[in-house]
Amino acid sequence: AASENKITNRRGRQVAAAESVATVLAIATAVPPTEFLQSEYPDFLFRVCDCDAKIALKDKFRRICEKTEIRKRNIFLTEEVLKANPSICFRDAGHSLRERQDIAAVQVPKLAQEAAVKAIKEWGRPKSDITHVVFGTTCGIHMPGADLQFSKLMGLETTVKRVMMYQIGCSGGAAVLRVAKDLAENNKGARVLVVCSEGTALGFVPPNEDKPEELVETALFGDGAVCVIVGADPIPKVDRPLFELLWAGECFVPESDKAVYGDLTEVGMDFHLTRKVPFLISDNIAKLLNQARKIVNNPNWNDMFWAIHGGGPAILRKIETALQLAPHKLAATREVLREYGNVYSGSCLFALDQIRLRSLAMDASTTGESCEYGFLCAFGPGVTMDALLLRSVPTTANFVDET
Ligand code: CAA
Repeated sequence: AASENKITNRRGRQVAAAESVATVLAIATAVPPTEFLQSEYPDFLFRVCDCDAKIALKDKFRRICEKTEIRKRNIFLTEEVLKANPSICFRDAGHSLRERQDIAAVQVPKLAQEAAVKAIKEWGRPKSDITHVVFGTTCGIHMPGADLQFSKLMGLETTVKRVMMYQIGCSGGAAVLRVAKDLAENNKGARVLVVCSEGTALGFVPPNEDKPEELVETALFGDGAVCVIVGADPIPKVDRPLFELLWAGECFVPESDKAVYGDLTEVGMDFHLTRKVPFLISDNIAKLLNQARKIVNNPNWNDMFWAIHGGGPAILRKIETALQLAPHKLAATREVLREYGNVYSGSCLFALDQIRLRSLAMDASTTGESCEYGFLCAFGPGVTMDALLLRSVPTTANFVDET
């Protein structure tokens, strides 16, 4: 009977695999303390970068900010931090990577820790039961990486098995969950701490007339961390699953080269974004998701719940049109965009957290706003698209009420 729980790996060895699909066992988020109202951000940005004389550019930036549907963002780069690191605000300095890396080295693991402490509390098991860490960020590159600093801050076992995913961009929230699913299902008893911790320290750019797309980036991105605990074979009355991870897939969009890409330079991340992005995503999303939808008898898109990367309102509008989604279907994603901005890889996982909280608030029958199946889907550099098919659980069975 023992061999029934084993699979044969590529070297022909028998290894223990889990019996159930991976499940999400807890989710928690954290953001830096300073809130920036979107309506006040143009004044802040142009003042702190000494660009108040660029009146037309500031008007354009204000127009973009007004169109983002963002109310506020939490950002670590306050006036105090920027004044202490002036080269970040002034490109003419010709260098700011050192300062940006120093900020990322501290802030990325610290914010991750804040989210992880809350997630472990919700999970209810000791942190020594964590067997694996999957850590994603687009903010900074260090060796050893943020995964090790985070594991030390958390006091995890020194034997914890770590996977570091740097520069994963916004599709990374789904990519970390895909990797965690594989780890949980192929290592019996594994409990995977999945983290996306993001910030604008690498990508913050002073206003520049020659690069209007940078204004879009500056108007959209925010800082935030999210932690998800993933494990298969949930132990009854000990682990309380919130969602099952039924399928995970990824694709890159053909002919999308350089639609979204970043280049790490002496002055930080040189980020490029073309106006084609919303079209490339909406033209290709159904093909990726249909691979999974057929596994569960092709439910109507509107009978599913949706945790989508809130890349920007134009992307969400195009997806709604392409899939003919009812207006309320992307409410969780829009709420995240409104209250936190585009938190890179964290966005879709923030949206998943919103969905289970909204389910609680609306007295829904499942953790997926009364739907059985749903998608978590994110888009990133390439264009790359990454998605998971989820199954919710009945709220009566396992739902964690944090109130
Ligand atoms: N580049 C440069 N300028 C742009 C632009 C772009 N990609 N998109 C819009 N603009 C400018 C317009 O030209 C316009 O300028 P003027 O007022 O001077 O004419 C201004 O922004 C406002 O545009 P619109 O009036 O057309 O307003 P809108 O309803 O389109 O809203 C927007 C603007 C919020 C930027 C919206 O277009 C949007 O959501 N765009 C998508 C943003 C996007 O691509 N997000 C992905 C970020 S990358 C990511 O998330 C993945 C990752 O891995 C990091």
